[in-house]
Amino acid sequence: MASVLVASNRGPVSYTLGEDGTLDARRGGGGLVSGLSAVDSQDSLWVCAALGAGDREAVRRGVAEPGVRMLAIDPDVYADAYNGIANSVLWFLHHHLYEIPREPVFDAEFRRRWESYRAYNRAFAEALAEAADDGAAVLVQDYHLALVPGQLRELRPDLRIGHFTHTPWASSEYLRMLPEEVREELVWGMLGADELGFHTWSWAFSFLNGAHIDSATGVTTPLSPTGTPWRGVDHMKWGAPRRSTRLRVHPLGVDGEELRALAHRPEVDERLARLREEVGDRLTIVRVDRTELSKNILRGLLAYRELLTVHPEWRGRVVHLASAYPSRQDLEAYRSYTAAVSELAEEINAEFGTADWQPVLVSVQDDFTRSLAVYRMADVALVNPVRDGMNLVAKEIPVVSEAGCALVLSDQAGAYTELREDALTVNPFDVSATAEALHTALSMPAAERADRTKRLAVAATALPPQRWFLDQLEALTTPPEE
Ligand code: G6P
Repeated sequence: MASVLVASNRGPVSYTLGEDGTLDARRGGGGLVSGLSAVDSQDSLWVCAALGAGDREAVRRGVAEPGVRMLAIDPDVYADAYNGIANSVLWFLHHHLYEIPREPVFDAEFRRRWESYRAYNRAFAEALAEAADDGAAVLVQDYHLALVPGQLRELRPDLRIGHFTHTPWASSEYLRMLPEEVREELVWGMLGADELGFHTWSWAFSFLNGAHIDSATGVTTPLSPTGTPWRGVDHMKWGAPRRSTRLRVHPLGVDGEELRALAHRPEVDERLARLREEVGDRLTIVRVDRTELSKNILRGLLAYRELLTVHPEWRGRVVHLASAYPSRQDLEAYRSYTAAVSELAEEINAEFGTADWQPVLVSVQDDFTRSLAVYRMADVALVNPVRDGMNLVAKEIPVVSEAGCALVLSDQAGAYTELREDALTVNPFDVSATAEALHTALSMPAAERADRTKRLAVAATALPPQRWFLDQLEALTTPPEE
């Protein structure tokens, strides 16, 4: 039994099955992994999904890391829930990615998948209910598991339940596109929690607006007492006369010391030396993303092309290092986006390249060592998502950058809230403004760049993962200050 539980789709470890039948465990990194390390592992449990054949085989053989429980959900149910709903519907809604004349379509097939999503959430709720001590704290993560708080509340009313959304939350206009019964189930699923966490108030207020669409949800928003850092949603479900769900903001940051240590390992030094040779004494504009529709890589490349057209003085003097590693390739929209990124990069190289200068270098390897090397040599960083929960790359680059790096940052990234003063901020749809911001960034005097980078690094490390996690745990286990 555990007194602190975390639930997320992707867990801290994944297994690959070798041809000889051996299982290889690979441990992941990320905010949650270091966050949970702040808690005594004897007392904690991380519930996650078995993602592939290796993970499922590990479950079958009873192989498990201490403190981790993988759920081997039926592969068809899992595919419907993860690809069919979480990544195709909820991700698209929260990031406003639909091309409205054709999408979304909510038909019988959608409703079948939604049932799978409910069943997949249910599997998590049951596993958590079974493993949680009396009054335990449960921290549920992200849009994959939006129904878990409500389902778990039904099973175990004694638990303290938190949910953290790592993405944005859909504006109420977008949420309204969902069939009414689905929208209500989603909002009620979330309202099963005692605490709902978001990266910014913008996303938290979107949730509040959405919860108020229907009078059917019967929610009211009490004002939090002056000076307390939360907003509340009162409702009549799960306990009379009312229950309160509090909304709070916990903007995840970076562990500066750990990241700098990682960035100065010998293998990163080696990569850096090789990259420097390739780039020569040219300035660098860097970006590092999953090839993800919301990251706006295409408009970023268009802005670079416009920069080279409108400010030809940069030709031959700058290289755009774009790390765009494949993601969610089961989805056609992602496959064609990945192809479009490579095509546009090739076009730019064909248009402007010379015998000794390749304007864009695209890397499609998910290679953290290379990313760190690229961070260190960045003169300009381009982070221009159309909508993004936080965007940790915007926080990591200033921490690691050596010479100081001018950050061109979208005003639609969660990180904008904390970094806007020292970044060059852009509307991510405005390609010309982005091109001009790149020009300003490249032209910025080195001393100003270094000063801004120092301040950006301070802001980026304000809430490192362990503190971020403990703050949520504390909020969840401290009685409301009413
Ligand atoms: C976003 C989500 C995470 C997710 C990650 C990678 O950051 O908020 O929950 O794990 O993307 O996506 P994937 O589908 O590869 O897990």
